[in-house]
Amino acid sequence: MDKLVIEGGVRLKGEVVVSGSKNSVLPIMAATLLTDQTCVIKGVPNLRDTNTMLKILRSLGKNTEFYKGTVTVSATKHANFTADYKLVSTMRASFCVLGPLLGKLKKAKVSLPGGCVIGLRPVDLHLKGIESLGADISIESGYVVAKAARLRGKHIYLGGVYGSSVLATGNVMMAAVLAQGKTIIEAAACEPEVADLAELLNKMGARIKGEGTPTIEIDGVKELRGVTHTIIPDRIEAGTFMIAALITKGDILIKNALAQHQGALLDKLDEAGALISKGDNCLRVRARGRIKPINVTTLPYPGFPTDMQAQIMSLMAVTPGISVITEKIYPDRFMHVAELNRMGAHIQREGPHAIVEGIKSLSGAPVMASDLRASASLVLAGLVAKGRTSVSRIYHLERGYENIESKLQGLGAKIWREKE
Ligand code: UD1
Repeated sequence: MDKLVIEGGVRLKGEVVVSGSKNSVLPIMAATLLTDQTCVIKGVPNLRDTNTMLKILRSLGKNTEFYKGTVTVSATKHANFTADYKLVSTMRASFCVLGPLLGKLKKAKVSLPGGCVIGLRPVDLHLKGIESLGADISIESGYVVAKAARLRGKHIYLGGVYGSSVLATGNVMMAAVLAQGKTIIEAAACEPEVADLAELLNKMGARIKGEGTPTIEIDGVKELRGVTHTIIPDRIEAGTFMIAALITKGDILIKNALAQHQGALLDKLDEAGALISKGDNCLRVRARGRIKPINVTTLPYPGFPTDMQAQIMSLMAVTPGISVITEKIYPDRFMHVAELNRMGAHIQREGPHAIVEGIKSLSGAPVMASDLRASASLVLAGLVAKGRTSVSRIYHLERGYENIESKLQGLGAKIWREKE
């Protein structure tokens, strides 16, 4: 296993290019199961998660090729409807093969993903939506078995206790595109990644309206065709570089970043004292002066993303004053708090809130990554801490950040990989 070692204290300066969105590409790769024709997906980041999805597609009978950011998926003669526990358990997003498998093959057997470190993460909304379309669903030996001679469009309310669900919206949308009649998904997730999936499906011949809003309307069609599609930029990776600029008092031009996907984050960073210039598909981020403490509450899109909660906490940890960070999507997503405190941060968790008493500087320490975004927050903290930080278990980071250390090195960071 590798660890990342960081010598803190360098102001990051220069340009960085953001990769294609991980959260967009995973359901989009699953959507290729809806056709036997060839699909070409461009701008695909080379990540542990995208490689896991390629393995799943192969296990389901697809041919796949991944070359220089382009994934090509074509059919073999052996379509399979079982997504195995070994693959699904390593990545929750694999569960979104359920909808397309059922839509195309009329049956699907997909392992239940289980819990994960950021919380329970149930799949009840996925199942509710797919069952509403007329599927017969049973749980057998840890697998969801879904069958439907014919799926029928339905009016489905998909809101849950924590609001809308990104992957449940995608899963139900993918099952509904080949259903008979009209489906209306109410309380749909509005994330840009859902809109990107809908755009892909429409290019394949689906008839979807309202994507990016809480009400999505889908008129079922008989079949879908192959497609060529380019993935939207990863707004969470872009956001992580924005924080990197501010935490190191640097100046970074972030290319392949869309300001229109970053409303809540840009608003909060502006409140904290960031100077942000918006260009054509790029953002330049630096500090106006001293960064100020801010309160942040995570919410479904267009609210502040939970996937940026850990990173903004690192920034607040080195911003003198008190800030309160409230997590409304995953109330237990605070594994990074204890690790940041090991670096000298003063953060206290109170239920779904973290009270951060910002201090002048952190001190480098060996820390352990617990999940993808928590790992990013520890790297950010390491960039500004005095001395040396080593972040172990970086396979979490490799799930979602393409070439993170070379991108940071390109901005001047002293960061390298070592064997544990
Ligand atoms: C996606 C993102 C993840 C992000 C999350 C929230 C992908 C691959 N992952 O995950 O990075 O952190 O959105 O923005 O796109 N819930 C239920 N029942 C369900 C499904 C979800 O109660 O059936 C709850 C979850 O536990 C959570 C909330 O709804 O509290 C939102 O989760 P959801 O949007 O489904 O997250 P994912 O789509 O799994």
